Amino acid sequence: MKLVVFDDVYVPAEDSHLLSRALDKESGSFLDVGCGSGFIGIRQALKGNSVDCIYISLIAVKNACWNGLLNNVDIRAYYSDLFSNVRGGYDVIAFNSPYLSRETEKGDVATEDNGVVGRFIEECGNYLNKGGRAYIVVSTENENYEKYIGMMDGWEVVGKKELFFERVEVWRKIKG
Ligand SMILES: C[S@@+](CC[C@H](N)C(=O)[O-])C[C@H]1O[C@@H](n2cnc3c(N)ncnc32)[C@H](O)[C@@H]1O
Repeated sequence: MKLVVFDDVYVPAEDSHLLSRALDKESGSFLDVGCGSGFIGIRQALKGNSVDCIYISLIAVKNACWNGLLNNVDIRAYYSDLFSNVRGGYDVIAFNSPYLSRETEKGDVATEDNGVVGRFIEECGNYLNKGGRAYIVVSTENENYEKYIGMMDGWEVVGKKELFFERVEVWRKIKG
């Protein structure tokens, strides 16, 4: 995959690769939430899946479009604060979330969980087709980790990686 990352856009890191690997066997219509450069969605599009990418600022929407063109895949990227502009349902929804809650993350939209993780857990089912799968990255370092686990009835861990000070996990839910 060819990838350009614009200034101020999240550079795909361990978490992005962990989520992307967990999605390897997925197929169907795909929504990349918080797409950044489009790294996760474009990898799905290269497999032939139909992909929408959403983001909370236009710079990353442009970045994802740019990388779609670079890779000759037809993705649709648009502005959305989480699901605010999402209509209809998807087979797969994936969110490499801003999953940290340390003081150093405050105000950093790329890494600070300002409640968006909890909102995703609560709302993603409304945008999944029957049998659809939602994926989210969460970290044991998030101060709300235990609270989120309590909210994640029916979710399971499908990927994990021990990093320096935390364990980053990929959780999946299948809509019945
Ligand atoms: C850890 S980064 C992942 C970026 C990209 N998916 C990747 O893996 O390279 C999380 C992204 O979610 C975005 N984000 C935060 N709140 C959001 C919201 N309410 N709606 C959409 N995206 C959001 C952040 O700006 C950030 O770039």
